[in-house]
Amino acid sequence: MNESQDPTALKQAALQEIQEAGDLDALQQCRVRWLGKKGPLTALLRSLGSMSPEERKAFGQDVNAAKQAVQAAIDSRKTELEAAALDAQLENERVDVTLPGTHGPSGGLHLLTKVTNRLLDVFQSLGYDVVTGPELETEHYNFSALNFPPEHPARDEQDTFWTEDGRLLRTHTSPMQVRYMEQHKPPFKVVVPGKVFRNEAVDATHEAQFHQLEALVVGERVTMADLKGAIQEMADALFGEGTKTRLQPSFFPFVEPGAEFAIWWTHPKTGKEEWLELGGCGMVHPNVFKAAGYEGVTGFAFGFGIERLAMVPYGVPDIRWFYQSDLRVLDQFRGSL
Ligand code: DAH
Repeated sequence: MNESQDPTALKQAALQEIQEAGDLDALQQCRVRWLGKKGPLTALLRSLGSMSPEERKAFGQDVNAAKQAVQAAIDSRKTELEAAALDAQLENERVDVTLPGTHGPSGGLHLLTKVTNRLLDVFQSLGYDVVTGPELETEHYNFSALNFPPEHPARDEQDTFWTEDGRLLRTHTSPMQVRYMEQHKPPFKVVVPGKVFRNEAVDATHEAQFHQLEALVVGERVTMADLKGAIQEMADALFGEGTKTRLQPSFFPFVEPGAEFAIWWTHPKTGKEEWLELGGCGMVHPNVFKAAGYEGVTGFAFGFGIERLAMVPYGVPDIRWFYQSDLRVLDQFRGSL
């Protein structure tokens, strides 16, 4: 019997090859080669027919035992290779959840929004409610109810944009004084942030659209001292305890007496000290109370432009930069202030 007819030798050769099969494809080829129809073990079984019965029995058992051993080896190698393939796949797909994330560019609030939010925080902490009103206003609330007589030159100082039905884009946040009073009972303290409009020749300090904050406090015995105190509290909160403030007489039709107020301010970078002229203020004019249907109360109001409070402290030299969406400007104020 030569080697190609010895079941044990064939089995050994097959087992060796099966062990060496590096992947499932190679193993499949082994199966075909050793157990397939044209394989050597099948050939041996075919040769049984020419043997004597005794020979056939012993040889047949040997061949079958060899076939079973080869089959078992293939099965166990297959289990091994499948497990290895799964390990490799898992390794391949491993995700390190501890790696730092990658994040895209994030947006941020506009400087004007931040300054407004800061102001609202300050006033809310002082007990004021925040309310807002319409940007498209009537002449009544924007002017007449605020004691601007018809044809009075003070109206010309606040030229604006008109709609064909006679309404206008509000020139200040003061119209909300009367609107609010009509809907509420004193005493109260409110602030009104919002967009206002003027028909201006645009330059570095004038825009056709900007923002104001209006304050209105009404009660039974509200005095000018309360007004001065409110401005002082705002200055303390914005620029630090003990910040100097000043009122200078001025005229606005809807207050009497009226004043302009300023805050003594030290530039954090240059160390330069100066008055930061912020806005107007005064005691609510009796005609304004009359327009709102109020009697027997007093109150004060003040209002100022928010842009100025952003430009001066943050060194923005041109008001137009706020509205040009130029990232070189916006990016500088993206972080927290
Ligand atoms: N509304 C005025 C303006 O835009 C500013 C102002 C002045 C508001 C005096 C007030 C005030 O509340 O009392 O020019």
